[in-house]
Amino acid sequence: MDSSSERRVRILSRHLTSLTSSSTALPNKRPGDEAANPVESSFFVTGDFTPRTNEQTISFSLHKAVIEGDASPLEHLNGSFMRVGPNPKFDFTNKPYHVFDGDGMIHSLSFNNGALCYTNKFIHTDAFVRDAKQNFSFSVMGEAMKIAETGSMTWTKHTRGAIGRANTALVSHNNRLLALFEQDVPYAIDPVSLETIGKVLDFGTAPFTAHPKICGSNGDMVYFGYINGRKKGPFCHYGVVDCNGKTLCSFPITVPAPVMMHDIAITSTRSIFFDYNNRYHSPKELMTGQAKSMYVVEENLPARFGILSRYAASDADMVWIEVPTAVVFHFLNAWDEGDEVVIWGCAASSIDLDNLGGDESRTSGGIMTCWRLNVVTGKLLQTFTIPNPTPTGINSMESAVDFAQTNSTKIGQVSRFGYAAVFCAGFQVDGVIKYDLQTFETKTYRFGGKGLFGGESMFVPNEFGDKEDDGWLMCFVYGDERCESALEVIDAKTMKQVARIAIPARIPAGFMLNGYPSKETR
Ligand SMILES: [Fe+2]
Repeated sequence: MDSSSERRVRILSRHLTSLTSSSTALPNKRPGDEAANPVESSFFVTGDFTPRTNEQTISFSLHKAVIEGDASPLEHLNGSFMRVGPNPKFDFTNKPYHVFDGDGMIHSLSFNNGALCYTNKFIHTDAFVRDAKQNFSFSVMGEAMKIAETGSMTWTKHTRGAIGRANTALVSHNNRLLALFEQDVPYAIDPVSLETIGKVLDFGTAPFTAHPKICGSNGDMVYFGYINGRKKGPFCHYGVVDCNGKTLCSFPITVPAPVMMHDIAITSTRSIFFDYNNRYHSPKELMTGQAKSMYVVEENLPARFGILSRYAASDADMVWIEVPTAVVFHFLNAWDEGDEVVIWGCAASSIDLDNLGGDESRTSGGIMTCWRLNVVTGKLLQTFTIPNPTPTGINSMESAVDFAQTNSTKIGQVSRFGYAAVFCAGFQVDGVIKYDLQTFETKTYRFGGKGLFGGESMFVPNEFGDKEDDGWLMCFVYGDERCESALEVIDAKTMKQVARIAIPARIPAGFMLNGYPSKETR
């Protein structure tokens, strides 16, 4: 970097620091705290996950914010790049907290021909509003998973009715932006102001997945939801709405026990469920020692894919196909090949939801895995993996991958390229990998070294390109000492950096990304 660039970075850095206020989280004095045994603070309210407590809107210039590379290719970009994540408004220091329970906060970076605007807002879920009224907050999953330590059930009286925090993922469909939490209904969000518009009941009142799939060819939204806390089923449901929001089908799915199912895959004609035996256990079972955690993967049971025609009228014709035990939180894509389906996803041998982040001995990711299934014979024909990237030596661990995705126009179709976050430890992501699903070659981009981390990278297509990988991978990164957080832009074709753009605010680590097109291109 030449001296003028260095000077610009120093000035920008001072400017950014002065802009970002860091008010403290609200005190969280709850009934029953005195009697409960204390716990260690969660990894997810410290370090890079330390929650933001204020909301901001800041306009700035793309070119003045570039600290690496050249942002010229992004000059004509229009639309918003968003990320949602758990961000508790109340203080959870030394209180049970699970990362799945933080209040949803959206961070948006909108592009308008070289002018940028950063905005962050809390999502006003029913749980958020209730907590604001009572002036304290409990983390339901955190409390349930720490019952044995705290010995407290007080939280069950103060969290009834509303547990959804809309913190897990965003989806754009039928000109709406929806914030999702898989044990609640979606919340509609204004894509510009990020104000919460309200709950969406168009898909019923049952829980709605954080990962509906939008068909790349006709814009259908395929969704499902798993339902826990009931004694009797159904424990799962399914539906499809078309690109205008018209319901095409909606019915229950039979599974033998309450489970967690995080993602679904689709082909152009079929929907693919994945039951990895991550069984739900009630607070009573935890309190009485019948279960060691709220969700336990039954590793002695095979996993199974359930394959159904997209527009089926019921699950009567579902074909369940057993595959070796695996936990898949995110699928990359799937497609039809006659009577066969090909499915790609990040598979881990198991997962411990009690310890997602803090344990340096394992990561939260898996390995890119392919399954080929024959839907007529009900057999697994083939399964294989593509090796993970070589670790960078940040620690002694093997790397892992998750948060897989592909060009959204290819969802449900044969796709050649896929992308995934590379985990170096716990919940820490130090790069992004590109897969060629035909040759099985990979290319990995690293954010730059020790202490520099990202999260999910989203593929943003270049509207002037005509190849599947014409576009950029975008990701919020943190740990660059020149700014509090940044947007990393990578050329998806070459897997080389295009630019790093300093953001005048701290964006804590979080969950899933979403692009929302500008009015002109929507
Ligand atoms: Fe997810």
